[in-house]
Amino acid sequence: MARLLARACCPKALPQAPRWSPGSVAAQAWSNGPLTAYMPEAIAFPGPSDHQGLYKVSVEQGDAFWGALGRSRLTWITPFHSVQDCDLHQGRVSWFLGGKLNVAVNCLDRHVHAAADKVALIWEKDEPGEEVRVTYRELLELTCRLGNTLKRQGVKRGDRVTIYMPPCPLAVASMLACARIGAVHAVVFAGFSAESLADRIRDAQSETVITVNQGLRGGKVIELKKTVDQAVKQCPGVKRVLVSMRTDSKVPMTALDVPLEEEMVKEDVCCEPAAMDSEDMLFLLYTSGSTGKPKGLVHSQAGYLLFAALTHKYVFDYQDRDVFGCVADIGWITGHTYVVYGPLCNGGTTVLFESTPVHPNPGRYWETVERLKINQFYGAPTAIRLLLRYGDEWVKKYDRSSLKLCWMQTLGHPVVPFPMNEAWEWYFRVVGETRCPVVDTWWQTETGGICISPRPSNPGAEILPGMAMRPFFGISPSLMDDKGNVLLENNISGALCISQAWPGMARSIYNDHKRFLETYLTPYPGFFFTGDGVYRTTEGYYQLTGRLDDIINISGHRLGTAEVEDVVNHHVGVAESAVIGYPHEIKGEGAYVFVVLKKDSGYTQETLTAELRELISKKIAKYAAPEYVQRLPKTRSGKIMRRVLRKIVEDKASELGDLTTLDDHEAVQQIIEGRKHLVEGQKS
Ligand code: PRX
Repeated sequence: MARLLARACCPKALPQAPRWSPGSVAAQAWSNGPLTAYMPEAIAFPGPSDHQGLYKVSVEQGDAFWGALGRSRLTWITPFHSVQDCDLHQGRVSWFLGGKLNVAVNCLDRHVHAAADKVALIWEKDEPGEEVRVTYRELLELTCRLGNTLKRQGVKRGDRVTIYMPPCPLAVASMLACARIGAVHAVVFAGFSAESLADRIRDAQSETVITVNQGLRGGKVIELKKTVDQAVKQCPGVKRVLVSMRTDSKVPMTALDVPLEEEMVKEDVCCEPAAMDSEDMLFLLYTSGSTGKPKGLVHSQAGYLLFAALTHKYVFDYQDRDVFGCVADIGWITGHTYVVYGPLCNGGTTVLFESTPVHPNPGRYWETVERLKINQFYGAPTAIRLLLRYGDEWVKKYDRSSLKLCWMQTLGHPVVPFPMNEAWEWYFRVVGETRCPVVDTWWQTETGGICISPRPSNPGAEILPGMAMRPFFGISPSLMDDKGNVLLENNISGALCISQAWPGMARSIYNDHKRFLETYLTPYPGFFFTGDGVYRTTEGYYQLTGRLDDIINISGHRLGTAEVEDVVNHHVGVAESAVIGYPHEIKGEGAYVFVVLKKDSGYTQETLTAELRELISKKIAKYAAPEYVQRLPKTRSGKIMRRVLRKIVEDKASELGDLTTLDDHEAVQQIIEGRKHLVEGQKS
């Protein structure tokens, strides 16, 4: 990378500098000062005197609120003429109409003008202690060279570019280079198999793939380029693969391959930013739905960026000199919004974490916090649950005094008291020394950014363990009953919907707008349906209760059970299958596979389990491989009873009542016995 940073950058023809500087607003100071110290734009909204008042403005006078924020926090090439044109009934969602901007300019150039040598990225490499700091000037150079390389290779505005890379500066530069030239990036988590990658490349109709020769994770070499080679064999539309050298090892190059760094050095360090419409596509991100095929959610330019920046600033109380440590992979929405776009739009310093929480030992996170002086740590509960098992010593060894707050995504844990509270308690007591509140955040790939979280709120407002609690600016949660009635009272559960469009929401599913409407907007006309269940407490706080569909969350990775069933059903011996999520102590949820074998297929338990695990790893990803595979007796109807199976895997068979009343009571009894046998067998 050093070779690529040899020349100073002198960006030309840039839009005006921003009117708002992220560091100028001290949210903490607000407890004693005027509301405008907390949010300068509040000057435009007469009336509110505290956070709650501002929230009210944001939902009752959305145009005034988002208009003021959109004007002051983003840098425009052409100002927008209308704040929004949204109608959830019609499926119409448009923000900042008529506006033109460039996302890379907002994330880079304007900060280069203000403080070129401020650190933008701290790449915490897999190799412990080898962090690399990249300044705003350097990141702009990398982005421009990469943007020029893409253009020279024939990538045009609107083209989709698939990025299959671990977290590293060139991955961020690839995303921003696409944004700069107006291409649409589609990052695919580098843990996905060749087949999953191929599906996503084909669906996005990407002609260009960017990858690395090899990845490094937890000290192990991962042959990412090999996986790409296998994937592109199944993608005749791919015209070029840009290969960056993450390690020194040479890998076989094909006719499609372009050595990325070698091409980048030849390019200019200035790259004219494309003037993009607010509603042009910024990126696609694939996520699992309740049917087999993953969907490419479409996020747009201005609305997404503003929502990313605003949530990053206010939920995490990000201040100018803070080092923000979100340890998510860039392959997921958390990485997009809180590693890349939110922090960079705010001119912040963001950590790119390439490793694992246990490499080289379970102190890795806290050693990193000490060395990089991380102020906000945003982690996933699966890692926290894993680490708490190694004991307090690994945490206490390191100085964590830089930490102000800790955040955690509870991600798909239907049962809040367990296992969440143990992790929350440990995170709060041991990691944060009871000094740093632990804050939950609820959101989705679809929402673009955090929608429900205890912060921001009035100074000193309570935070309850493992509860998302309060809606963010502009988010109006509604609870629905089975018949589609809005539930207005407190102390009630329902389906979580959002009743007004917000700037960060996804606009469509790539190439399948009908599916977008059917999944999110038609189930409750006039509302965005999240797919989650929620309980509103007597105080009016929101507590998530789990998915209402067949999506599960394994170690924070979202997975459709139908997706896994599709793969299992391809196994030669399998007639039918049902995949059920069950509470898993570390991963949050695990996959439990039930299969009905074809007649006369003589598979042993061991062979069947091994083959199915391998098949799922190959077709989807290693994390999707099930813990348990159990054979089912063929039931009388031939149908698999999901409701019953769910109770059984959750070890709640007693809730099925009198088994003899069930149609297939003998079969059910056999399944209960089978599970007991399997689970106990694995324990011993
Ligand atoms: O079921 C909810 C769960 O994770 C889903 C979204 O997953 P994904 O699109 O991968 O987004 C990850 C970024 C958050 C949601 O539909 N989920 C998310 N946050 C929470 C949660 N479940 C409970 N509590 C949360 N705080």
